[in-house]
Amino acid sequence: MMKHMHELIASRLTRRGVLKGTSGITASAVLGISAISRAETEDAGEFEEVEKGYDPHIHWPHATHECDLVLSWGDPIHPHAPAWEEGRTTAEAQALQFGDSCDFIAFMPLPMGSQNSHHGLLVVNHEFTRAATMFPKESDPKDPERIKAEMNGVGMSVVEVLLTDSGWAPVLESKYNRRLTASTPFGVVGPASGHARMQTKADPAGTEALGTLANCAGGTTPWNTVLSGEENINVFWTGKTEKGDPQETSRSAMGVGLRQVWHFSEIDERFDLQASPNEPNRFGWIIELDPYEPQSKPRKLTALGRFCHEGAEVVLDGTGHVVAYMGDDTADEHLYRFVSEGKFDPARPESNRDLLSTGTLSVAVFDETGVTWAPLRHEGVLAEKFTSLADILIDTRIAAKWVGATPMDRPERVAVSPTTNRVYVMLTKNPERKTPEGPNARTENYWGQILEIIPGAKGHTAARMEWTILLEGGGAKATEEGRVHPRTTVNGIFSCPDNAIFDKQGRLWVTTDGNAGAHYKLNGTPSADGVYLVDTDGPMRARSRLFFRGCAGSEITGPCFTPDNGTLFLSVQHPGRSKDENFGTNWPASQGSGLPPRSTVVALRRKNGGPLI
Ligand code: FEO
Ligand code: CA
Ligand code: CA
Repeated sequence: MMKHMHELIASRLTRRGVLKGTSGITASAVLGISAISRAETEDAGEFEEVEKGYDPHIHWPHATHECDLVLSWGDPIHPHAPAWEEGRTTAEAQALQFGDSCDFIAFMPLPMGSQNSHHGLLVVNHEFTRAATMFPKESDPKDPERIKAEMNGVGMSVVEVLLTDSGWAPVLESKYNRRLTASTPFGVVGPASGHARMQTKADPAGTEALGTLANCAGGTTPWNTVLSGEENINVFWTGKTEKGDPQETSRSAMGVGLRQVWHFSEIDERFDLQASPNEPNRFGWIIELDPYEPQSKPRKLTALGRFCHEGAEVVLDGTGHVVAYMGDDTADEHLYRFVSEGKFDPARPESNRDLLSTGTLSVAVFDETGVTWAPLRHEGVLAEKFTSLADILIDTRIAAKWVGATPMDRPERVAVSPTTNRVYVMLTKNPERKTPEGPNARTENYWGQILEIIPGAKGHTAARMEWTILLEGGGAKATEEGRVHPRTTVNGIFSCPDNAIFDKQGRLWVTTDGNAGAHYKLNGTPSADGVYLVDTDGPMRARSRLFFRGCAGSEITGPCFTPDNGTLFLSVQHPGRSKDENFGTNWPASQGSGLPPRSTVVALRRKNGGPLI
């Protein structure tokens, strides 16, 4: 049965023109396209592919493109903010500076609703802090001053940016610039707002939570707000859960109390499981921020479920419903879809603001021929197991398993093609996988794959859709079944897809997290994480080309285009990360400077202007 599933994928891959890289036969011969001229087989977007490798620097097509350093961790985002200083990270400074470990980026044009591609707001996630770069080696992880700085180093930033003669630069005097941290007040909206399991001593109503954590990827809405996913929130709590504790099953499903990395509980009892047992229930949501209203209170959207949210890819369906596709980035967790109950009304912008508060959350159940979206409603088996919809949403992962959700190879970001409407899910990897299932066809999957879901005529609200695999990471050397287009070069082979975004022309840009280790496993040499341009259609389907390569130890996240496709913003996250934190790079400072590497947002542009490629 399982072998059959794998064979099925293989036949689909071949049918759609994805061929083994080891094949000596040319793509055009096998695909029967020999009559098509060379001009038609190549897409218009040519560039000199970057070479794979691993070194202290970042790389891009230098002959044709330039790369601006826009914002690094610790850079001031207000006129009176202190400059970043090595080894001197204080809470007061962090609150006024760009946060650490930049991840998701949204470019929101100014004025709101325009297509201005030279002036706008960057909304950026700060997924975590890195003690090795922030504090002296001897610093105590439980030092209250250090913890305060860490709590102000996470969250999000909103920064006005302008394209000047010397590249993209922050506008420090902007009224829009703000930081969200581990202490910022958030409204709690949707079905779980005010539920008993959301109530705490400090917030007996259960309607206002403080702070956002582990913000990974995100999304944007048709009403010009930004979404952000609270992902690995489990590592912030102190205290064990005793056997028989009523919260035991719920906490264990989210990994809360099983592993601790930060020590916030030293200064804030919200992060002590004994003192504030419901506090973890207030994290693990999609949050929504209006960057155009600097005084606005951000919100936690409970209708979209609670799990380790990677991000939320929002599309406006032809029916008028707003749909969000969301990955839960943990091995063997699931892929979700939310469909709003109400419909988007372009004539009444304010009436759209609550569309993500009421609707149906469903989870993906894959079989050999398609995917069924199983609703998580308070009915059937879920009515037997849960007391209310709020209860289901707080324990989304548990509910998903009751309706037969397919365990996935770590679903990360989702991207929807603006030209074909097809949905692409980055399944990053799953080395522990023992049993193939659905689109997760490889056991011991170190490489990851890109899943393609085809909504069909019924659009994004359909109960059932088709699926196939666009490409498998690792190339043909990873396993016999590893598939990429035969004209993919050695530089274009990648593993561990994580973030993805389409440009206006419908071309897919994929960033990786873990490529270095996977390459090492393949070839005995690492190749750093990067940005790959992946063909999704036509005779070059499943070819990938390396456009940008990060420096040693970095992961590339947050790909984001300006509306004119002229600038590609990227986050170079955790440069120099290594087991021993010896860095191996000082980037973006010059090599040999002795300075610690800093996570940085960069902007890629073509030297002579115009679209990126
Ligand atoms: Fe924070 Fe799923 O990467
Ligand atoms: Ca990610
Ligand atoms: Ca990742």
